[in-house]
Amino acid sequence: MSSLNDFFEKVITVKWGPEKKSVDIIDQTLLPNTIKRIQIRTQEEIWEAIKKLRVRGAPAIGVSAAYGMAVIANDIPDEDYEGFYTKFKASKEYLATSRPTAVNLFWALNRMEDTVKANREKPVSEIRRLLYAEAEKIREEDVQISRNIGETGFRLMEELKEDGKELGILTHCNAGTLCSAKYGTATAPMYMALEHGWKGTDMHVYCDETRPLLQGARLTSFELYNAGITTSVQCDNMAALLMKTGKIKIIFVGCDRVAANGDAANKIGTSALAVLAHHYGVPMYICAPSSTIDMATPTGDDIPIEMRDPEEIKSMWYKEPMAPAGVDASFNPAFDVADHRLITGIITEKGLCSAPYEEAFRKFGIK
Ligand code: MRU
Repeated sequence: MSSLNDFFEKVITVKWGPEKKSVDIIDQTLLPNTIKRIQIRTQEEIWEAIKKLRVRGAPAIGVSAAYGMAVIANDIPDEDYEGFYTKFKASKEYLATSRPTAVNLFWALNRMEDTVKANREKPVSEIRRLLYAEAEKIREEDVQISRNIGETGFRLMEELKEDGKELGILTHCNAGTLCSAKYGTATAPMYMALEHGWKGTDMHVYCDETRPLLQGARLTSFELYNAGITTSVQCDNMAALLMKTGKIKIIFVGCDRVAANGDAANKIGTSALAVLAHHYGVPMYICAPSSTIDMATPTGDDIPIEMRDPEEIKSMWYKEPMAPAGVDASFNPAFDVADHRLITGIITEKGLCSAPYEEAFRKFGIK
């Protein structure tokens, strides 16, 4: 496993910069061709990195926002609580405007603010120290959360594995090491399989390329291929045929926000996969840290969906424009919602949830 750990270390999504004065991230917009790390320090740099998807994926957005708030707090000069808190809160609210859908962003920012408020009687220097500790805790918890999700998902893989045959798995977007502190969520079952002694050739992971920003092709296939797992990339519109021909035995995807009824927002295209999976009888699981479950959001219709720049559709990936300049491409939602009635289950770090989801979440103490 040491080579896998070396790989995780090499592409680690978020870590502290020198002397913890900045946040060090791998710039995911450059992958897979260039592995470049950048250090971000000011609130504007952190906001830009999240908005532009240099760091992306729900858990990684949460961890980088937490790390970012610790670094920002360290640069606030005020030593009186009120002055410090006013500036901290303004930066927190600013970072919260970076992306609207992944609830982990707000969850992590609120944890950081709660740390400030709970320690208001302490010197500001101590509060700064506690913020670093809280951010670190959020990162460490994420590793354990992924492991737990991975163990549950791996047991489902074991049930489906036939001797001498590779297990066909489909995933969409990137819910891998690059979106988290270590194992990812949708990829955690695959990495756990390796830790349990499966060979990379015991499974075959089909990665949807994931238009328009190609997280599946650029990020997921990059990390699984480097981890030694048999990996293919295919265009999004090929998933139906893969399912129809029996190549896919199970689907794991991540999510950015799960509503109380189990509707799950994830990268655009996930809803179509859920419809296909239901039609072809392929089990489809949403891998969701409990921090991604938002009990205050009743259904998927209540989840805010980020709209992005039309140029992502029309001109980003080729030297020549991909559509006539005047053609409308303003419908560019970053996410859609998989209907809870179409999915098989939601894997959290606390265990596997089945419908009715609200009841299952509450049983696991998710409030
Ligand atoms: O726009 P992105 O790249 O941030 O979208 C990411 C996804 O949709 C992931 O599947 C999701 O955040 C889950 S990551 C565990």
